[in-house]
Amino acid sequence: MMKRQGSELEDKLIQLAQKAYSQAYVPYSHYPVGAASLWSSGKIYTGCNVENASYGLTICAERNSIFQAVANGERSLNSIAIAVPTEVFPSACGACRQVLREFAKDCLVLLVNGKGEVRKSTLKELLPDSFGPEYL
Ligand code: THU
Repeated sequence: MMKRQGSELEDKLIQLAQKAYSQAYVPYSHYPVGAASLWSSGKIYTGCNVENASYGLTICAERNSIFQAVANGERSLNSIAIAVPTEVFPSACGACRQVLREFAKDCLVLLVNGKGEVRKSTLKELLPDSFGPEYL
């Protein structure tokens, strides 16, 4: 078996995202998602999705992770791993892509399925021609 080509930091992000989905609160969708984001400080913040009986109040794992980081003073996003336990790869929703864009013009996005397979993408690929803070 060939070892996946990725840095140790990427492997750490992936592991933390996988660990994060174990805390997901998903009584309605039964679809746990975990995210781990790396910031310019070198710190990593994790998040899981948290659902609500009033469904629309649900927060995605990605935004949970981003908001935790920002609340701790972070402003510059380096990369994010998003992990799910299913065979189908995750894909950050449109709202989360725009929230990532607030803190990075571009960044590495690692999408991890339940088999531990990794799909590497970038924010620019996921959200082309994006609108961001420098427009204002
Ligand atoms: N969800 C995420 O946490 N991240 C995504 O990228 C897609 C959707 C959550 C929201 C909800 O708790 C569940 O997955 C099903 O939509």
